[in-house]
Amino acid sequence: MRFDKLFSPIKLGKTEIPNRVVLAPMGVSVYSPDDTWPKRTIRYFEERAIGGTGLIISSFTRVHNKLATGPSPMIGIYDDRLIPSHTELVEKVHQHGSKIFLQIALHGCKFGGLEGPSSIYSLNYAVRPRELTTEELDHLVDCFVKAAFRGKEAGYDGIEVHGGYSYLIGAMISPALNKRADKYGGSFEGRMKFPTDIIKGILDKYPDFTVGFKYSAYEWLEGGVDIELAKKIAQYIVKTGVSFLDIASSSSTTTLYTSKYSHVPPIYVPRNTLMPLAEEIKKVCPQTPIIANGAITVPEEAEEALAKNRCDMVAIGRALIADPHWANKARSQKTETITPCIRCNVCHHQLWLGTPLCCSMNPYVLKESRQKLSFTAVKKNVMVVGAGPAGMRCALTASKRGHKVTLYEKRGHVGGMMYPGSRPSFKNDVARALQWFESEIKKSNIVLRLNTEVTPDLVEKEAPDVLVICIGAYPIMPDVEGMDKPGVDSAINILEDISKYRGKKAVVIGGGEVGCETACYLADHGFEVTIVEILQEILKESEITEMKLRLSDLIRERKISIILESKLNKITEEGAEIIMPYDTQMGLSQGGREQGLDADVIAIAVNQKTDSALVDSLSMKVEEFYIIGDCKKPARIKEAVEAGEEVARSI
Ligand SMILES: Cc1cc2nc3c(=O)[nH]c(=O)nc-3n(C[C@H](O)[C@H](O)[C@H](O)COP(=O)(O)OP(=O)(O)OC[C@H]3O[C@@H](n4cnc5c(N)ncnc54)[C@H](O)[C@@H]3O)c2cc1C
Ligand SMILES: Cc1cc2nc3c(=O)[nH]c(=O)nc-3n(C[C@H](O)[C@H](O)[C@H](O)COP(=O)(O)O)c2cc1C
Ligand code: SF4
Repeated sequence: MRFDKLFSPIKLGKTEIPNRVVLAPMGVSVYSPDDTWPKRTIRYFEERAIGGTGLIISSFTRVHNKLATGPSPMIGIYDDRLIPSHTELVEKVHQHGSKIFLQIALHGCKFGGLEGPSSIYSLNYAVRPRELTTEELDHLVDCFVKAAFRGKEAGYDGIEVHGGYSYLIGAMISPALNKRADKYGGSFEGRMKFPTDIIKGILDKYPDFTVGFKYSAYEWLEGGVDIELAKKIAQYIVKTGVSFLDIASSSSTTTLYTSKYSHVPPIYVPRNTLMPLAEEIKKVCPQTPIIANGAITVPEEAEEALAKNRCDMVAIGRALIADPHWANKARSQKTETITPCIRCNVCHHQLWLGTPLCCSMNPYVLKESRQKLSFTAVKKNVMVVGAGPAGMRCALTASKRGHKVTLYEKRGHVGGMMYPGSRPSFKNDVARALQWFESEIKKSNIVLRLNTEVTPDLVEKEAPDVLVICIGAYPIMPDVEGMDKPGVDSAINILEDISKYRGKKAVVIGGGEVGCETACYLADHGFEVTIVEILQEILKESEITEMKLRLSDLIRERKISIILESKLNKITEEGAEIIMPYDTQMGLSQGGREQGLDADVIAIAVNQKTDSALVDSLSMKVEEFYIIGDCKKPARIKEAVEAGEEVARSI
């Protein structure tokens, strides 16, 4: 496909942007004590410019260092002393032909911040913020305006005023969060006064400067911004002279995180999910360039949205974390070489943990200066055992470094657990990532031996210089009566080939991520499904709230039954017999009773275990060996990819 629209220039105000690809503003969770840009953050942005991104929007920078700042640290633009650091960033980005805008914001009462538009109790953060006084808001308008002036002085090509996500400006424009009676509230115009004063204040002094507005066109709040109000906001703000609108959706500060429009949409939500919001705004503001957001990861889909005039530019966040060269690869028609983002939200989760941004598919995020590979001085025979993500990544990098690599896989396909993990239709982004691995392996010099189970004898026979053991983990099957009955199998085997399993009813034992995804997959294949979970809730160990909530949505939409605090007792002729309730603390079936569940298929998704005996026996055959990925410690794709890369660099 040609990407004529995607790579056509566009003017935002007086600023010409070379193409329609925008790096969505994203905090990278790295700070410096003096609130300047850390060197590695500048390098991170520069890499996205090298990759051909037309416009880079900086992450959130704060316009005040004390008032309405929220609890977390941020890069600053609140003082003149910060300007040189911003200039350094701008110059690095400009060297590669990209434009760069500064995003200015304040958290307000989001994330438990102590000051906001109104004193509304936040259930999420158990905080009742203080209402900012009128004088404080006047002062903050001035701070935003001066911050934009500093941005101009630093050399930025424009400013994005952050009015989304229930941050200070987002909350000021929300009828649900702004209950003020002064000039900054009380009516639509009153609520809009704060952002419009900011924008007018900037443009009064620099009428030719490019200023845009990012906001949430949908808040999941009773009485909050909905799409109708969002249209009105757009039409109103356009009159201030903004050069573009950047359309996002919101998470809120007062209720739980349950908007149907996730602002960072995880894999369980379809791609391009916020495009309808951008499209609605485009209809009412046809003359204003509209930037769309939200799970835009595939160049063909971005081109289609632009060609259909649903938006004018595409803000790409996570896909540009996963592959900073997304734009150049698309432009040169090499889309199959783009490392796909699997929308696992591990990156976003780092903001909550307060640890630096990282990525499941790209081990070089914030380590861009390290990514150049050195060619090996000594070419070695490298035997990689297991073609999961750890083995595939290790083989690819070791081969690029000039080693002679043979990748062994006992199954008939590569991917390891990425293969069953990509089977449900809602895991399509993992399927794309697996296709990427396959295609990279095909192009490489790696010798791939499928259907070859590696034994200690085979290692001895091949006598490699280096052995990399990445054989993954295997599913634990409960030791109960009847496990050999037909229809009883591991969730992994069922995901691998569901055509082997027939019937009407299915029971999934284990309500973790694998169990829940398997339950949805079975439901998608016509089964009436029940999940049996030993703990008090399903997905208890899922750390990433957004992922957990969206997977729970999929379970609910499919009307899957859930039985909690119950344990598999045995497999019977009719199905599964469980003990409920099962007392996990006592480890006993105290007070529990047996309950039969009719089932034609019983999927076991309780846990995984490493085969340490095999790992040990393989490792004994070679002097230089490495044990990586799930066979060392079951984890996720991120840990497997990282370990594969590290070992391959060190051989
Ligand atoms: C259903 C499911 C869904 C998942 N979804 C996600 C997700 O969305 N995001 C995420 O981050 N993680 C996910 N995970 C976890 C993730 O897939 C694993 O953490 C990751 O695949 C581990 O990689 P690995 O290379 O260490 O091992 P594996 O992927 O397990 O690969 C090991 C490979 O070694 C092969 N092998 C084993 N023994 C031998 C032998 N003797 N000789 C030759 N080959 C051998 C196996 O056949 C296998 O192909 C999921 C896991 C499952 C089970
Ligand atoms: C790690 C991370 C940090 C983010 N930080 C910001 C931010 O500083 N300002 C902002 O407006 N949006 C921020 N966002 C939201 C993104 O700009 C974007 O709207 C969202 O990720 C959806 O785009 P995507 O699906 O392409 O990732 C962040 C998102 C992520 C993943
Ligand atoms: S961590 Fe996951 S969601 Fe974030 S960019 Fe990487 S692959 Fe995408």
